Order: sequence, then structure tokens, then C-alpha cells
Amino acid sequence: MAIETHYKLAGVMGWPVAHSRSPVIHNHWIAEHGLRGAYVLLPVQPDQLAQALRALPVLGFAGCNLTIPHKVAALDLVDRVDPLARRIGAINTIVVEADGTLVGRNTDSFGYIQSLLQSQPDWRATHGPAVVVGAGGASRAVIVGLMDQGVPEIRLTNRSWAKAHDLAQEFGGPVQAVPWTERHATLAGAALLVNTTNQGMHGELELDLCLDDLPTHALVSDIIYVPLETPLLAAARQRGNSTVDGLGMLLHQARAAFEAWFGVLPAATPTLRAKVQATLIP
Ligand code: ATR
Repeated sequence: MAIETHYKLAGVMGWPVAHSRSPVIHNHWIAEHGLRGAYVLLPVQPDQLAQALRALPVLGFAGCNLTIPHKVAALDLVDRVDPLARRIGAINTIVVEADGTLVGRNTDSFGYIQSLLQSQPDWRATHGPAVVVGAGGASRAVIVGLMDQGVPEIRLTNRSWAKAHDLAQEFGGPVQAVPWTERHATLAGAALLVNTTNQGMHGELELDLCLDDLPTHALVSDIIYVPLETPLLAAARQRGNSTVDGLGMLLHQARAAFEAWFGVLPAATPTLRAKVQATLIP
């Protein structure tokens, strides 16, 4: 009989999940590192999330990623939530420990910051204020990442004022809520702009944001990766700003999850990027 313990399974639980690019990424690394295992799609309906999570240890999974709509619900279903995931308020990675304990983690902040640094190695938190557009789940991960890097001022603007206000109250420190009507003017003096809304995504309207007040030395990033160059990034590039697309965050959040399951921190190489990019034709 084969030695089953050397074969590791991981996957992504979501509903729907068929569109996920995570299998391409993780299976690339499994092959690259000569590991025995597989990363699979796990379509799980919301009302069956608890059962599906409890099946992970039984089926020999090292863990899984969680995507829409499970990231928040899982907080109450795992045995332990690590402090970073607790602050972000969502779990994107579950690690199954040797005794079957389920630990909830979040690698999205790491993914966002590593993506910035890979694309712009000279970027430093101390360069100045950041403007974050959007106050949903993705915004929370980006803000926590920026706070932990030591960004001195984070201007958070969101269409719905209450969400920006509440998030700024919750996080405190450098995070200040800025009314939506002041989103254009708040770009003055910023060193970094991040779009965490869905505006600019394939099939959505473009983000309604005028870049005139943004310094041309500011870095402009989008967490959207379909299309790779959103209207925001195109406008920023045309006026001379450096830009960072959302594919980097997808690859880098995956690196930390892979390391947790397989014990190797893999690289987001140009080859992998091209491979995933080839699947992004909208
Ligand atoms: P995610 O988990 O990807 O962050 P989300 O939690 O649904 O998704 O958040 C979506 C974000 O996009 C929110 O900040 C949302 O603004 P509201 O809080 O006002 O809903 C923002 N968003 C969605 N549609 C928008 C629009 N037409 N204009 C501006 N912001 C929009």
C-alpha cells in the first residue's frame, strides 16, 4: 500500500468556485517543488460550510482556502482564529493541525503588501499617506497590512459613509474616514492610492475618482485583476504614476497559504504570473 501520509490535499471552498484561479497557482507550485498532492475546487453551499470544514481532517486535507461567501462565516466554525485573521474579520486560509484542529488564518494583508513590494521594491510605508477606496472585506485586509507596515496616515473613503466611519473607529490609529464627496481632494499629498471596491472590474462601471490632485510620484494599486489594467490603473499610468495590478495580491496571498500547508514558501515568478494571466481573458 502507498504511504498515504506523503500525499497532501488542499483546495478552495466557495460558492460558486468554478472561476477560481487558485488551482492553477497551487498545482503549479506542487509540481515545481516535486511534491505529492493536489489542490482542488471544493464547491460548498453556505449551509453546508460547517460540515465541509469538519470533513477536512477526515479526508486528509492539509487545509483549504475560503472564498466568497465563506470568509466571515468561518470565524465561528473553526477551533481557533489567529489574531491577524481576527483583526481583519475574515478567514481566507484554514490549516488542519496534526490532531485535526482547524485554525483560521488570513494571508490577504501579506499578499497585498508583498505584491506592492515585488512590483515596487522601493516602496516604503514611511513615504506618506495612503488613500484606501472602499470599506468592505478586502479593504479591511489592505488597511491592516498598511497599518502593520507603519503607514502614518490612512484616508479611508467609501460610498456609504457609515462603513468608512465604523471601520476608522474600529481600527483607530492612522485610519481616518473621509466623506465620499471629498474623495477627489483627499488624494492631495498621498503616496499611495488603493482601490478595494469592485468598480473597474469587468462588467462594472469604472471607479468615479478624479486623479488631478494625486501627486505623480504616488503609487496607484488596484486589487481587481479582471481586467488586469483597470480604467483607474490606465488613467494613473497615463499621467505618470507607477501602478500595481491585483494579480500580484492573488499570487502572494497564495504563497503564504501554500507555505502553511506544504512547508515551502513558493515564489510568484514571471512564469506563474503569465500562466495565471492567460486564464484572465474576460
Ligand atoms: P469585498 O469583500 O470584495 O471588499 P464588499 O465587502 O462587498 O466586497 O465591498 C464592496 C466595496 O465596493 C464596498 O466598499 C462598496 O461600497 P458600499 O459600502 O457603499 O457598498 C464598494 N462599492 C460597490 N459598488 C460601488 C459603487 N457603485 N461605487 C462606489 N463604491 C462601490
